[in-house]
Amino acid sequence: MIEFDPERERFIALFATKLKELRNNPYAQRDIRELERFAGRCLDAVKQAVDGDRTKLERFVQESALNRGKEGFKAWHVMQGFDAFRDTAKMVRWSDCESFVKLDDVLHWASNTYVRVYEELLTERGLVRMVESLTLALEAKEKYTSSHSQSVQKISENIAGVLGVNIGLAGLFHDIGKINVPDSVLTKAGPLTEEEWALIKQHPYHSFRIMSPIYPEAASIVLRHHERPDGRGYPLGETVIPVEANVVSAADTLHAICSNRSYRRHEKLDFALEQIREKKGTQFLPEVVTALEKTYGDMAGFLTELSTE
Ligand SMILES: [Fe+2]
Ligand SMILES: [Fe+2]
Repeated sequence: MIEFDPERERFIALFATKLKELRNNPYAQRDIRELERFAGRCLDAVKQAVDGDRTKLERFVQESALNRGKEGFKAWHVMQGFDAFRDTAKMVRWSDCESFVKLDDVLHWASNTYVRVYEELLTERGLVRMVESLTLALEAKEKYTSSHSQSVQKISENIAGVLGVNIGLAGLFHDIGKINVPDSVLTKAGPLTEEEWALIKQHPYHSFRIMSPIYPEAASIVLRHHERPDGRGYPLGETVIPVEANVVSAADTLHAICSNRSYRRHEKLDFALEQIREKKGTQFLPEVVTALEKTYGDMAGFLTELSTE
């Protein structure tokens, strides 16, 4: 077993100094006190992991990925930190051969876990941030869309949960392609001409084009969020609709009706559900309507908020 405790203070000081010495690394700009605190926490987590319990180290790695990422650290910076830990352990001569293999194994595992967690965070967060800025750009054109997108995402997630399917973030950016529709058409108060409708009907296709390079799975859902099982949808007019796309479609309709000011508040929810029920089999897949009915009660609070907006 590695004996950390007798040399604890010396180890922390040495590890902190080593971190400070790393050139071109955000660690090098840190105050030595902060590095010592970091070294102390790292030491405790590694000690427990070497003793067989990796829970603390895993939490430490996850927190590091979150916080270090925010502070501009890259994955390899943190891996350098683990290397520095290993070097320091050698310098302090804590270990015989067998226990050093254990330490090495733990640090190797921590590096791999860090890279995995960090990459997951980057992808998810990067994507959400990108979608948010696109939605803001769209909001500049049409004010309604931003809150609409968030609500459609939330309602879709509820319905998808009952069906056991995954819609990813398709609800959030289903209408992102409206960015390609001219302002004069998007915000027109009066009835639209046939040409103007033709432009609007292209928006799922533009959503697909915008999202395809970064999120292909959800792109195919947004392409079909106005398709209908009876073939009267757009832009493709397909009759075989993926259930995920129809989930977004039902959520879209529900929110559109609930936020329509021309209906009286208390009637909105029941009216929306009634409208969707009436289109079971034509606009909406029967299983999607059934799932919506099941989740309707759970969503009551959230939907009431929507209805009183
Ligand atoms: Fe749409
Ligand atoms: Fe929509």
